[in-house]
Amino acid sequence: MKSAQEILEKGKVLLKDLPNSSLEAKLLFFASASLSEEKFHSEPGVHLSSAQEKKYLCMVKKRLTGVPSAYLIGSKEFWSLSYKVRPGVLIPRPETELLVEKTIELLTGGEEIIVDMGTGCGNIAISLAKELGRAEIYATDISNKALDIARTNVLLQGIPGITLIWGDLYMPLRKLGLDRRCDFIISNPPYVTREDWENLDRGIREHEPEEALVAGETGFEVIEKLINEGAAFLKTGGYLIFEIGFGQEKSVWALFGKEWENISCRSDLAGIPRVFTARKR
Ligand SMILES: C[S@@+](CC[C@H](N)C(=O)[O-])C[C@H]1O[C@@H](n2cnc3c(N)ncnc32)[C@H](O)[C@@H]1O
Repeated sequence: MKSAQEILEKGKVLLKDLPNSSLEAKLLFFASASLSEEKFHSEPGVHLSSAQEKKYLCMVKKRLTGVPSAYLIGSKEFWSLSYKVRPGVLIPRPETELLVEKTIELLTGGEEIIVDMGTGCGNIAISLAKELGRAEIYATDISNKALDIARTNVLLQGIPGITLIWGDLYMPLRKLGLDRRCDFIISNPPYVTREDWENLDRGIREHEPEEALVAGETGFEVIEKLINEGAAFLKTGGYLIFEIGFGQEKSVWALFGKEWENISCRSDLAGIPRVFTARKR
């Protein structure tokens, strides 16, 4: 039997070449070792069984093969809530919180109709529902795997008012008769080019769903449709808010036609233009 501290240190050494090695070693440790962080700190000499050690080191080894920590522990934090995730569903990224932040700034607190297009694990829709307390939110996705996990997250958070629907972009909204009725259409769409996908980190390429990230040869295939078809589903004065990728800002400005006004793009904490907002005229 070794002390918990020794075992955690061993994990840190094994993961030393990862960018956030210390944090990841701790995340995997507390998820696998059946030991609370509180006990670890209050009883510095606490020992773990060899089975606990084996379980942790097995996770560390999988991490070293490129499997993302979030898939190993089965969850990821976003907007201060923990979301279930699993292979086949995109792991929420911290920069996407900017999309939630921007939307909250524009909400009036009335009975708004909000659409989260391409909901993934449901992180954007659920964050907004939590903030609003009450809202009519439609969360769509073309992936049934994503909708299944989003359903689990909605149930775990115990949030009413979110309707999950399968379908290609605006198709489900048409079916629901939401033409010209939406106040907000929000999306973190796929926007990576096929070429960039080939050059992405191995951990992403081998484990995260390509269809959640790649939008054709140019990376603009989905964004173009979001803009071109979006005005038909928004009320006058309604907002389209969506995320873009590195280096895409200039091309996206050029996609907006005369049905849009008050167009702006906000940068993320790294100074990268990240979230477009446009108001329907
Ligand atoms: C970049 S992920 C975003 C997931 C989640 N909203 C987030 O921000 O973490 C894009 C999501 O859009 C979905 N998607 C891709 N193409 C779609 C389409 N044509 N119609 C609806 N959803 C689509 C993918 O399945 C994926 O869940």
